[in-house]
Amino acid sequence: MLILNKTAGVFSKPSKRNMYEFLRSFNFRPGKRFLHKLVLGIETSCDDTAAAVVDETGNVLGEAIHSQTEVHLKTGGIIPPVAQQLHRENIQRIVQEALSASKVSPSELSAIATTIKPGLALSLGVGLSFSLQLVDQLKKPFIPIHHMEAHALTIRLTNKVEFPFLVLLISGGHCLLALVRGVSDFLLLGKSLDIAPGDMLDKVARRLSLIKHPECSTMSGGKAIEHLAKQGNRLHFDFKPPMQHAKNCDFSFSGLRHIIDKMIMQKEKEEGIEKGQILSSAADIAAAVQHTVACHIAKRTHRAILFCKQRDLFCQSNAVLVVSGGVASNLHIRKALEIVTDATQCTLLCPPPRLCTDNGVMIAWNGVERLRAGLGILHSTEGIRYEPKCPLGADISKEVGEAAVKVPRLKMKI
Ligand code: KG4
Ligand code: ZN
Repeated sequence: MLILNKTAGVFSKPSKRNMYEFLRSFNFRPGKRFLHKLVLGIETSCDDTAAAVVDETGNVLGEAIHSQTEVHLKTGGIIPPVAQQLHRENIQRIVQEALSASKVSPSELSAIATTIKPGLALSLGVGLSFSLQLVDQLKKPFIPIHHMEAHALTIRLTNKVEFPFLVLLISGGHCLLALVRGVSDFLLLGKSLDIAPGDMLDKVARRLSLIKHPECSTMSGGKAIEHLAKQGNRLHFDFKPPMQHAKNCDFSFSGLRHIIDKMIMQKEKEEGIEKGQILSSAADIAAAVQHTVACHIAKRTHRAILFCKQRDLFCQSNAVLVVSGGVASNLHIRKALEIVTDATQCTLLCPPPRLCTDNGVMIAWNGVERLRAGLGILHSTEGIRYEPKCPLGADISKEVGEAAVKVPRLKMKI
């Protein structure tokens, strides 16, 4: 059992006065009535402090976000106490901005929804502690949110998508394939056995010192790889996609990362340059890495689609694949997935980029979905804890592996 970290409070000494002042800062407008239910969503599971107010029909009334990316880029990765401190410094302002933009006063909210799992313990603690104080002051229901479920359901805010559908979540912290059967009904078909693709691309970009590249200095690792790959020739390097013989829907990126590291070391020797300088072949390496990652993701997703079709798990009329997460904004990876969905007569859907990455809207929307379905709405927050580790749904990845679905070879002409 995880204990809520007391040091993760919103204020150095959580005080009721602070919260009253915060609430008083809003313009209460008596007489104004909202016909729809309104949910405030709060997200602090990793390195983004985000909040949004969304109504029952999916209108985003207000949103705000503070990204820590620039700070973490400089230190070469997320340092949890630094992330915690930045969440603490920003959460009140971000929630206030979202509420002000929405023109909704806190008393008009139907519920407060907050990410409580999975994520960085110190980061989750800030959002939960802040939310619990707000819930206590406002006497509103609290809706605890699973971060991955929220990512998976975001598409229902932007598109008319019925259950069940397949979702591929690929980001810096996530990599999984799941069948979404309902608001809180998920079947996990496969996941990364080690690191996530975004994490791997970030590490390769760091090893290639792309932060020193004049065109990439402010980009995340994945974005820098995509940018540079456009100038490179992927055929100059031949990295094999991982797990070619494992007939399941799991992923792996660590082994590939080590092979690339070795290749970079060899190239540095050949070019007579030190670690930290940019290789003349950096763009070719970026192109080859991106293509190998795309092929690996496409193959596992192809198998998941075929498994769902064989077991009749899709909607009769339309099989839908939803792709989300920061890595889903990569156009080369999207193209590879398009080749798969074209070959399997599936519809490929991606939320817009700002909703693919971590945001407050997806948390508020998950709150709306739960409110509508009457699922997981708490009127007492006694004993509520955050959970840094928490699987998504029922894990059937072993059964998927045992089915050993054969995947026909597709030409990845991208
Ligand atoms: O979803 P996200 O904002 O945060 C979480 O990890 O939850 O995803 C960030 C990740 C980073 O690893 C970043 O390098 C990667 O997404 N990323 C990309 C691209 N843009 C961001 N990876 C590949 N291609 C991109 N264009
Ligand atoms: Zn996320």
